[in-house]
Amino acid sequence: MTETFIDFGDAGFTYDGERFVFRHLNLTVPQGQFLCLLGGNGSGKSTLAKHINALLVPDEGRVDVFGQDTRDPEATYFIRSNAGLVFQNPDDQIVASLIENDVAFGPENLGVPNPELRERVTRALEEVGLMGFEKHETNALSGGQKQRVAIAGVLAMDPAILILDEATAMLDPRGRAGLLRVVRELHGAGMTVVMITHYMEEAAQAERVVVLDRGTVMLDGTPAEVLTRADELEALSLEVPFACRLSRQLQARGVPVATCITEDELKEELCALRSTM
Ligand SMILES: Nc1ncnc2c1ncn2[C@@H]1O[C@H](COP(=O)(O)OP(=O)(O)OP(=O)(O)O)[C@@H](O)[C@H]1O
Ligand SMILES: [Mg+2]
Repeated sequence: MTETFIDFGDAGFTYDGERFVFRHLNLTVPQGQFLCLLGGNGSGKSTLAKHINALLVPDEGRVDVFGQDTRDPEATYFIRSNAGLVFQNPDDQIVASLIENDVAFGPENLGVPNPELRERVTRALEEVGLMGFEKHETNALSGGQKQRVAIAGVLAMDPAILILDEATAMLDPRGRAGLLRVVRELHGAGMTVVMITHYMEEAAQAERVVVLDRGTVMLDGTPAEVLTRADELEALSLEVPFACRLSRQLQARGVPVATCITEDELKEELCALRSTM
């Protein structure tokens, strides 16, 4: 049986006691799922993400993570150390001047002893493509490199849930593709992933896509179900992936291809078509 890892039950949250970012929110995420959260600016994605690792707790209803109530002070430590959150801006999360110390910070605080600590640091740096950078200074890194260090710091904690809040926003296309590959590998190895992004191409790689608008779940389904709904997405300040647009333009011109959401799918469609000509 798949366990529920994240459970928002009729949850409501307000920063100022007046305006609710979300209210009566119901959302469950089973263990091992790769979920992508989409929504326009201010729709409540980051606020929701911070509830998953108990940085914020609901004012109404409840949020359970790993079956534990996030408002229970005795559960906070367990939840924070097992639900790793990577923010958009690495400057918010880099704490040490030397990369190896920065990456070691989280697991060290969890009491991970040497030599396991060193092994975790090495492995996490490898995972983000910064092999051998242990002795480099964090302040001499570019924004994208810093972001990778921040991600390594979270991975070194060996979390059961990885939450990425626009973590690829600062990365160049290659860095983004590299990070997405790492995320997919981690998911393949059993990690539960909640990824917030504005890139539809990234969302197309997830197992499930949830679209938020003013704190309400507007769409929820597989990428193929959600990312092809052009009119609804547009009304929510989003768009369909490039491959979907192109396959529909081809259909309009009479080319018999299926509606695709990834470029790989469209490529396969076109190659199959050519072989029938
Ligand atoms: N620290 C805060 N104090 C008060 N209001 C806040 C705070 N953080 C966010 N808000 C408000 O809560 C709402 C949701 O913000 P949130 O940051 O969760 O949106 P988001 O979907 O992550 O947006 P973006 O795509 O711009 O990152 C917005 O109206 C925002 O102004
Ligand atoms: Mg945000």
